[in-house]
Amino acid sequence: MTWLVTGGAGYIGAHVVRSLLDAGLRAVVLDDLSTGHKSFVPRGAPFVQASILDGARIVDTIDEHEVTGVIHVAGFKYAGVSVQRPLHTYEQNVTGTAILLAAMSDRKVDRIVFSSSAAVYGTPDVDTVTEDTAKNPQSPYGESKLIGEWLLRDQAVAEGLRHTSLRYFNVVGSGDESISDTSPHNLFPLVFDALVAGRTPRINGNDYPTPDGTNVRDYIHVADLAVSHVAAARRLDAGEPLEPAYNLGSGDGVSVGEIMATVAQVTGIDFVPEIGPRRPGDPARIVAAGDLAARDLDWKMRHSLTEMVSSAWAARRAYGR
Ligand SMILES: NC(=O)c1ccc[n+]([C@@H]2O[C@H](COP(=O)([O-])OP(=O)(O)OC[C@H]3O[C@@H](n4cnc5c(N)ncnc54)[C@H](O)[C@@H]3O)[C@@H](O)[C@H]2O)c1
Repeated sequence: MTWLVTGGAGYIGAHVVRSLLDAGLRAVVLDDLSTGHKSFVPRGAPFVQASILDGARIVDTIDEHEVTGVIHVAGFKYAGVSVQRPLHTYEQNVTGTAILLAAMSDRKVDRIVFSSSAAVYGTPDVDTVTEDTAKNPQSPYGESKLIGEWLLRDQAVAEGLRHTSLRYFNVVGSGDESISDTSPHNLFPLVFDALVAGRTPRINGNDYPTPDGTNVRDYIHVADLAVSHVAAARRLDAGEPLEPAYNLGSGDGVSVGEIMATVAQVTGIDFVPEIGPRRPGDPARIVAAGDLAARDLDWKMRHSLTEMVSSAWAARRAYGR
């Protein structure tokens, strides 16, 4: 019984692989290294360098490693870039998922956990997002993740696939100094990049209707998120029911201003962020309830904001960027 982790050489996937191994489960990684790093894959997990667009390699990997379930983390995650590159985004996230599902169907692998995103909700006009909040993706990226969820749902109807989709909110921190978020678009790497380069980090708008005027978002620690993947995998192995989708959110937001203050405190670099204009379409607050995931997936916030920032900073310095 082995779990195939697509995208297991990436920031989140590498944490998921570690959690699987820590829980005594077997894992094999399939990753094309387009944004991932082979060094992120722990020794205990065999590594296959291949794309999810290559169905034959997926089938071979399933056979060779006796794969019984898949945690599908691989994907193109840059929502902003997806607007310029819709076809690429759809190819990676929709065609790739369809090819993966076809390979699973071919080899009778009948369980999957899918990395979905808060982007399926777009810019929700509610105080707290629940799984039932209207889906209104506003980028090809968000659309492609929603279609990914539908592909799983439809394979469940057609072939009895057992599945769940985990909708991540803002994933930060590090559970292991050897794994760093190297994304050029996420807030933490952007702020750290600015500080290391001697620039002052910038806040996009401080006139929102929030306590300190800056955007409020739902930040979750990557190691907490990884634990819930293991819980989902175990439930699938045990034949226990799962919801089609879970929000991995804290129910409690943190403002960008609070994050900047915590970064200053953790790094010891004293700075006052520059205030830029609002970014068009950026909602004041997006916060999600994680109640369903807490009930079924051992989901809870085990890390404070300070731990999120300090672990991310330590991993970044260890990574040497
Ligand atoms: N980071 C976040 O805050 C966040 C939030 C919501 C959802 N997600 C989703 O979680 C997943 C992982 O995100 P991440 O932050 O770890 O990103 P990441 O870029 O670090 O990881 C993605 C991994 O997938 C691999 N990959 C990409 N295309 C592939 C392909 N065609 N075949 C095989 N491997 C491929 C990459 O090389 C990389 O290792 C993505 O699907 C993303 O959409 C991330």
